[in-house]
Amino acid sequence: MDSSPRVIIFPFPAQGHVNSMLKLAQLLSLSNVQVTFLVTVDTHDRLLNHTDVISRFGSGFHLQPLPHGISMDVMNTRDGLSILYDSLNKIAKPFLREFIAYSPVTTCLITDGILSMAADVAQEINLPIIYFRTASASSFWSYFCMPDLIQVGELPLKENAKDLTLTKVKGMEDFLRGRDLPSFCQASDLTSPDFRIVMTETRQTPRARGLILNTFEDLEGPILSQIRTVCPNVYTIGPVHAHLKAKLGTKSTSSNSLWQEDESCMSWLDTQPPKSVIYVSFGSVAGLTKEELLEFWYGIVNSEQKFLWVMRPDLIIGQERKDEIPVELEQGTKARGYMADWVPQEKVLAHRAIGGFLTHSGWNSTLESIVEGVPMICWPRFADQQVNSRFVGEVWKMGLDIKDTCDRDIIAKSIRDLMEKRNGEFSQRTEHMANLAKKAVNEGGSSYINLDRLIQDIRSITP
Ligand code: UDX
Repeated sequence: MDSSPRVIIFPFPAQGHVNSMLKLAQLLSLSNVQVTFLVTVDTHDRLLNHTDVISRFGSGFHLQPLPHGISMDVMNTRDGLSILYDSLNKIAKPFLREFIAYSPVTTCLITDGILSMAADVAQEINLPIIYFRTASASSFWSYFCMPDLIQVGELPLKENAKDLTLTKVKGMEDFLRGRDLPSFCQASDLTSPDFRIVMTETRQTPRARGLILNTFEDLEGPILSQIRTVCPNVYTIGPVHAHLKAKLGTKSTSSNSLWQEDESCMSWLDTQPPKSVIYVSFGSVAGLTKEELLEFWYGIVNSEQKFLWVMRPDLIIGQERKDEIPVELEQGTKARGYMADWVPQEKVLAHRAIGGFLTHSGWNSTLESIVEGVPMICWPRFADQQVNSRFVGEVWKMGLDIKDTCDRDIIAKSIRDLMEKRNGEFSQRTEHMANLAKKAVNEGGSSYINLDRLIQDIRSITP
């Protein structure tokens, strides 16, 4: 009989979460841990269509679709998160209960740290739970401290106090302002169901026997010490994409993309001088209004730098993207720009032609940029992104945090500053952190050791 442990991994059904949890799945598979990976039908079909996910893993990997009825399409609507949670509760929870009951022996459940309904099921039958939070340790900790902020009256945020530093997020008292808090906390009252969900999900984390984080000790050490006061068993194993690269001995990892990647941008990048191109992408979920899009377009073209811009077909909120270039911007766009629907981002960031990244500060994008030593301009949109961008700009000093500013002149100036004037200053820091990231995932590094410990701990659980 096969004695290798078997885990169920359950990510929140969005690209940023699926991506890093699938990388964890691959890391575990390489150590002979059998993995069942639970995804929505839509994600299941997209992974089969756009990736080599089945051939990449051995026979110990099983991609399991959930029943129909759970869709990410609601996420760009008001209270989208709570609508999604309703369907997860109604559909995924009973499915998981049955699935575990009729599956071969399962060692433990590794569930996304914001899916406590899965942990409830596991707890009913005494199945050990390990959580994986796919965002930064810093954002996790800021969510965790919300009740303390409410208690001292710093939350809800007062309109005229957004620039003041907050006193109750331990380890961040010197630099975290109201406007750096996750988007869910920015409203003038705290009645949004999304806020309640995020806070409740975070506060119940200590019930798990361990917490996996896609980060590394040299990047977020002081905040990790705070987290360990409430969750002592933290496995920092990131950046997971770099960890996987190190284990496979390859330059880049296979894609976990839910969209078709346009590889043609790589040939365009090949023709550009070193560090001459600013890469622009706002991740997989964030949308822009038509006005914001135009402001960015002017800013990017007026910066007079070369650019590669990912313009997803659903990037503009509430409407299909029309492939028209505003007349005044046509010449600058054609002369200096390359637009794509979706690109192989890890490879793009590793290309020698990339000199900067204009990003929404999603955590995967931030880590991918850090590993390649690419300085960032941060324009955060929602969830953890506001916290991440504050760390990039103020703590790690690896770029500029323009926060909620959306003004063509500021965008143009920031791009010029990043690519020309202050590039040396930022590059020095990003290169240093890139080296530390690589050290963490190679033999003897903190993430390497923590992954080993995680695997040993999974093995030591006797079902
Ligand atoms: C979401 C949240 O936005 C993010 O803040 C949170 O940390 C995780 O969930 P997303 O918005 O998609 O994720 O951002 P991000 O975490 O940066 O993930 C995007 C992923 O898509 C990255 O791994 C990136 O490499 C990939 N990507 C993006 C592509 O492969 N191609 C593209 O063209 C754009």
